[in-house]
Amino acid sequence: MASSEGNKLWGGRFVGNTDPIMEKFNASIAYDQRMWEADINGSKAYVKALQKAGLVAQNEMDQIITGLDKVFEEWSKGEFKIKPGDEDIHTANERRLKEFIGDPAGKLHTGRSRNDQVATDMRLWLRDAISTLKGLALQLINTMVERAAAEIDILCPGYTHMQRAQPIRWSHWILSHAVALSRDVERLDDIRKRVNVMPLGSGAIAGNPFNIDRELLRQELNFDRISINSMDATGQRDFVVEFLFWGSMCLTHLSKMAEDLILYSTKEFSFITLSDAYSTGSSLMPQKKNADSLELIRSKAGRVFGRFAGFLMTLKGLPSTYNKDLQEDKEAMFDTYDTVSAVLQVATGVISTLKVNQIKMEAALSPDMLATDLAYHLVRKGMPFREAHSCAGKAVYIAETKKVSLSELTVEDLQTVSPLFDKDVSTVWDYIRSVEQYSAPGGTARSSITAQIEHFRTWLLAQKQ
Ligand code: ARG
Repeated sequence: MASSEGNKLWGGRFVGNTDPIMEKFNASIAYDQRMWEADINGSKAYVKALQKAGLVAQNEMDQIITGLDKVFEEWSKGEFKIKPGDEDIHTANERRLKEFIGDPAGKLHTGRSRNDQVATDMRLWLRDAISTLKGLALQLINTMVERAAAEIDILCPGYTHMQRAQPIRWSHWILSHAVALSRDVERLDDIRKRVNVMPLGSGAIAGNPFNIDRELLRQELNFDRISINSMDATGQRDFVVEFLFWGSMCLTHLSKMAEDLILYSTKEFSFITLSDAYSTGSSLMPQKKNADSLELIRSKAGRVFGRFAGFLMTLKGLPSTYNKDLQEDKEAMFDTYDTVSAVLQVATGVISTLKVNQIKMEAALSPDMLATDLAYHLVRKGMPFREAHSCAGKAVYIAETKKVSLSELTVEDLQTVSPLFDKDVSTVWDYIRSVEQYSAPGGTARSSITAQIEHFRTWLLAQKQ
């Protein structure tokens, strides 16, 4: 008989040994031990409800709670010893409780199943994880917003299709990424509402037969709501899927930001210099300084999306209620949490320490990026936009054939395109004037950036409450 046989929560009807490979294959303790605290808290609440229902005497409840506190202490001191046969965190904690207090431990699981227990533990764990991630995301957004405020006067080229498009404020670029992240924070709040629902009291599938006070459980564990169907509560993992999607979306946003910054940090661009703290060298080429931090941020989006896609595939076509396939939920959830949490912290470090090379950024602006402004100049003189667009296009063509920059065209050159051009066209060749036109909300003018920053500061304050 395997040494573990005595610990099994389901040993009764089994006579043979479990194949050791199967034992290992089946066990989740290696990773679900992370939920030790949630598991103990869930059990402490549950024993109170058992006592209220008259299934456990007051003194038994006291012994169970004291015992659970001892198990808690062992975990928190890193002294808990996992033994062979501790299939998962639920088995391990109950085994240890029994070692501490003996027989009354056997009453703790009355009417409960690992099916409602594990769903409860996961929701408790994820609820805390969500609040940690929210804090980290807010820290990153705050760093971005303050950087945008400090560097509001720096201009740089804005790109579409990775081609020079229009001059923008560098702050506008920063804030564009902060807005996406702020949606991620809001999505996280929304997911939390569905995570914070209590499955405990659902049993294995049918519910709880002992008239357990689920409202008491809800209050003890600080859940917002009680699950309304025991089959759904034990068999659904859509709350995990939502979280994995969330991680995928958030890291997709950050991978975009990372990609821009990798490009901006190349010698060809030299718009930014990454701090040494977030760069590495090459083992072969002494001159190299690689943006590894940003490349890793970019890469992690793929990793987390893999978790999301993989787990969703595990769920697809599963029959109703609990199946062991669901055990796959945990590594996906933990890995997504660990990855996103690391990325958010590294991104905060990168953004707060990188150096902006204002001279290089502004030197990269070129008069061709003002072709749109040239068209708008004509629009302001009464020309319909379509016609103005075509005139500015012709001016670009003339400049290209004459091998001069757009701003070097003479008034006479321009008048061959449209008689509306005169001396005042010289006002167009000014990058600050260009960005200042975009003062409607959301634009790149100074006043609009200031409004964006104000919006964020208020939003950040509201988030922290
Ligand atoms: N370790 C299991 C899991 O993570 C706990 C639930 C086991 N339930 C069962 N019916 N075997 O899913």
